[in-house]
Amino acid sequence: MIAAMDIQVTKTERSKLQDIDLENLPFGKYFTDHMLEAEYENGKWTNVEIKPYQPLLLEPSLAALHYGQAIFEGIKAYKDEEGNAFIFRPYDNFRRFNISAERMDMPEVPEEIFIEGMRRLIELDKKWIPAKKEHSLYIRPFMFSTDTMLGVRPSSKYKFLIILSPTGPYFPKPMNIYVEERYTRAAPGGVGFAKNAGNYGGSMLAATEAQKQGYDQVLWTDASEHKWLQEVGMMNVFFIIDHTAITPSLEEETILNGVTRNSVITILKEMDIPVEERRINIDEVIKAHKEGRLQEVFGTGTAATVAMIQKLKYRDYVMEFGEKDWTLSAEIKKKLNGIRQGKSPDTHHWMFPV
Ligand code: COI
Repeated sequence: MIAAMDIQVTKTERSKLQDIDLENLPFGKYFTDHMLEAEYENGKWTNVEIKPYQPLLLEPSLAALHYGQAIFEGIKAYKDEEGNAFIFRPYDNFRRFNISAERMDMPEVPEEIFIEGMRRLIELDKKWIPAKKEHSLYIRPFMFSTDTMLGVRPSSKYKFLIILSPTGPYFPKPMNIYVEERYTRAAPGGVGFAKNAGNYGGSMLAATEAQKQGYDQVLWTDASEHKWLQEVGMMNVFFIIDHTAITPSLEEETILNGVTRNSVITILKEMDIPVEERRINIDEVIKAHKEGRLQEVFGTGTAATVAMIQKLKYRDYVMEFGEKDWTLSAEIKKKLNGIRQGKSPDTHHWMFPV
């Protein structure tokens, strides 16, 4: 039981729910009636409030806007057939949020605000959880510095918020990807393992250039050789070679410790598929493809769950995959969705009841 925290609740006078079609949702466009907001000042969290979703009034000198002390999480909530609401593995995101906070020299957010605040917010906006397949309530906790000053130093004040977005699929179709050799997402000693806003800002030009060439995203490589594979777009990446799943390991701290990545590894092991978390080089992938041993490549993340890859290009070598190849990725996705929708037993206690 989480220690009680004084959360002041102000309800909206008019729900926006009747204006939204919960059956036909893009990703992250609509927001529910309420949000949570808390402030950090003088070394402690105060003013924890759930209130109607509304704009923030911020000064132009706000430190976060200049120096990027800003972190976030992505989590999903689902409804079972009886209408009970569940959050998928929120404690894993809670722990990762505070790891990001530590790396960005920001304060920890306590469990009674992050978890209990989230639970109460979702309880209030429960009607917004879509029931449709591939739909969910996307939860976005975030924190940013709020000192108003231009000196480069950690802020003494912060805001923590949670907003909720009823959401459909992130990638409606399989992805075309090329191996990125110019830009770098992360290097050892950097911030690649943290979910800080700048990692996403820094990735956009690479994605835009990929899109100009008819690709959706890039496969990130290491900073020095541009050979060692890291993430695909904003997701962790899995290669199925010789019926073994290989995914980049976490120890270099250049990739995000994905909650979906971890769930997929667990499911793969339960399916008796060997899993190797290790360094993986593009030459190994190409060689496996040339020898007919590369079966599937897919991305995993909270937003997309499992994203199939249909084209993977390295320099002028193009690897193509189709419906008949997406066997393991489709099966994992089905298993994960079954647990999330309450249709399969939740043997790992991943579903946290609201
Ligand atoms: C996720 O899949 O968890 C992400 O980080 C994507 C999000 C930034 C939209």
